[in-house]
Amino acid sequence: MFGLGVTAQASPNMTPAKSPSLDERRFRVLIDAVTDYAIYMLDPEGRIISWNPGAERINGYKLEEVVGQSYALFFPEEDRAQGKPARALEMARRNGRSEDEGWRVRKDGSLFWTLAVIDAIRDEDGRVIGFAKITRDTTERRKAQEALLESERRFRLFVDGVRDYAIYMLDPEGRVINWNSGAQRAHQYTAEEIIGEHYRVVFTAEDQEQGEPEKALAIAQASGKHEAEGWRLRKDGTRFWASFVIDKICNQRGDLLGFAKITRDISERRDAQKSLDEAREQLFQSQKLEAIGQLTGGVAHDFNNLLAAILSGISLVERLVATKDDKLKHLLETMRQATQRGHGLTRQLLTFSRRQPLRPEVIDLGKRLRETLELLDRLLSGNIKMSIHIADNLFPIEVDPAEFELAVLNVCLNARDAMPRGGTLTVQAKNEARRNDDSGLSERFVAIGFTDTGIGIPDAIRKRVFEPFFTTKEVGKGSGLGLSQAYGFAQGSGGTVDIMSEVGKGTTVTFRFPAATPKPQELSPEDIDAMAPAHDSGTVLLIEDDLSLAELTSALLEHAGYTVKVAHSAAAALNMLKRGSRIDAVFSDIVMPGGMNGFQLARTLRKEFPDVPVLLTTGFSGAADVAQIRGIEIIPKPYDPDRVTSQLAKLIAESKRRPAH
Ligand SMILES: Nc1ncnc2c1ncn2[C@@H]1O[C@H](COP(=O)(O)OP(=O)(O)OP(=O)(O)O)[C@@H](O)[C@H]1O
Ligand SMILES: [Mg+2]
Repeated sequence: MFGLGVTAQASPNMTPAKSPSLDERRFRVLIDAVTDYAIYMLDPEGRIISWNPGAERINGYKLEEVVGQSYALFFPEEDRAQGKPARALEMARRNGRSEDEGWRVRKDGSLFWTLAVIDAIRDEDGRVIGFAKITRDTTERRKAQEALLESERRFRLFVDGVRDYAIYMLDPEGRVINWNSGAQRAHQYTAEEIIGEHYRVVFTAEDQEQGEPEKALAIAQASGKHEAEGWRLRKDGTRFWASFVIDKICNQRGDLLGFAKITRDISERRDAQKSLDEAREQLFQSQKLEAIGQLTGGVAHDFNNLLAAILSGISLVERLVATKDDKLKHLLETMRQATQRGHGLTRQLLTFSRRQPLRPEVIDLGKRLRETLELLDRLLSGNIKMSIHIADNLFPIEVDPAEFELAVLNVCLNARDAMPRGGTLTVQAKNEARRNDDSGLSERFVAIGFTDTGIGIPDAIRKRVFEPFFTTKEVGKGSGLGLSQAYGFAQGSGGTVDIMSEVGKGTTVTFRFPAATPKPQELSPEDIDAMAPAHDSGTVLLIEDDLSLAELTSALLEHAGYTVKVAHSAAAALNMLKRGSRIDAVFSDIVMPGGMNGFQLARTLRKEFPDVPVLLTTGFSGAADVAQIRGIEIIPKPYDPDRVTSQLAKLIAESKRRPAH
């Protein structure tokens, strides 16, 4: 390009007065060829004495129009008023040169931005004989620059306006260079507080120790970009879960200028995802338990029938044979105990699969719990301390008291087993209220928590503890049914049971039962009197599809003084009644293959033979079914023979007391 030094050197010879040498002529040609720069000369007073084609193009005047005029002609009115043209010349006169940037006016009045340089030209004696002026029209460049500045300004505004993302830049060492409002919102530092600081202050202490801030930059520097998630800190020390990207920024030559970092607080998303996963997991677990319940329930039911037959058989043998023989007596007692243990196990299994008929009662929970824990205190070894906190005025709850006790026992025995070297078992019962999201109503619960300071349960195991037969105990030590019973019982009572645990710290099992609205007692003292077995007992129609059980039960009933008629199905029983057989009471199984079940039979009998009382038995029924047919007694299987006979006696006595239809 046309160097200024060249102009200054050449300019003394550019005075048109002297006749040009060859060099000067060449030079003249050169200057005339330049159209991008206005090159002209001024006399010491600033009047124009030469004018090149570039000047003509840029300023719009021809030589003859401007020659002899002051170069102030090209300045805007205000600049002239301020004496700018004279000042520029004055400066060039003093310093040899002056530079100026500013607006100039074309002949047509339009403005253009120029970069102007004025060089003073001196003669051999050093007197200023004029000025060489070179001007360039930089309007385009200026426009581009302005556009760039404007776009940068807009970009800054845009970045700063982003409130959901923390956007900031780091220098190559990791110090914060700028900080948008989103960064302030996420991290709580203002720009003034953090600019110049190392960005490690937003990392947790653990991450800082492990050099995470530096590692993240190293990865970004090596691969251009680093994207990850992690905990980040706010100024007040609280954490949030963040997703972030770090981009390396280089100039065109590839030198590292720094990093751009974009961070987003995704705690909410993470929390939502976590609860969704948990809900899914819970659903999966409860579906699994439901399926296992279906499977085991059937087996347990059949097994229970076998036990019922054996137990009835033992009772019968006891009654039939002379019991003077001690050996036989002992043998029978052992058999009974073994059968009852078997029954205990099937009962847990039936409770789990919710086929154990629950006999819910409104109970005084505090009292029951204390009683059960007292009993338990004896079972716990001396090195286990019990700490009991039972709130006063607990809401009454409606549960099967026997199952409740069993569940408490199961959970406490687990706690004992988890603390072989001793510890504390804390039992806490208190009222809770929770708002139901769907109905908006407040629901009242009683929560009963059992906390031990034992070995705890690893996560993978915790997911399985409610499964029947799942045990981590040695063979013979655990059957894996304790928590299954607790689970089935809680569910069957409209409640829940949860287990929380930390390995090495301990475990908490919490039951929650809905508060019950108390019901009036159904049994009167006269009813209880009537429960004593009458001697002249009456005729019982026994309906039982299991042949061996039918045989044994009828033998038992006969032994108690009843005349027994047996039917193997509901239809056969109805036929017998329709034929006019004398029947004082019906004793029926609920579940019978095909056709009518015990409930349906009971309903039909109520309609067609209202004087005939019905006693049902089952090892196979849900609490819901029981609730449907209130007022009909149900005896769980395997049954206690005395209970059957006394219940039948009570029913027959009641029906005799009622006026005949
Ligand atoms: N409080 C507890 N602390 C540690 N582990 C426990 C606790 N409660 C239950 N568990 C674990 O859950 C498993 C299942 O418990 P569950 O009561 O169902 O069966 P079990 O105790 O093994 O046998 P069972 O109760 O039938 O005699 C246990 O084997 C044990 O691994
Ligand atoms: Mg157990």
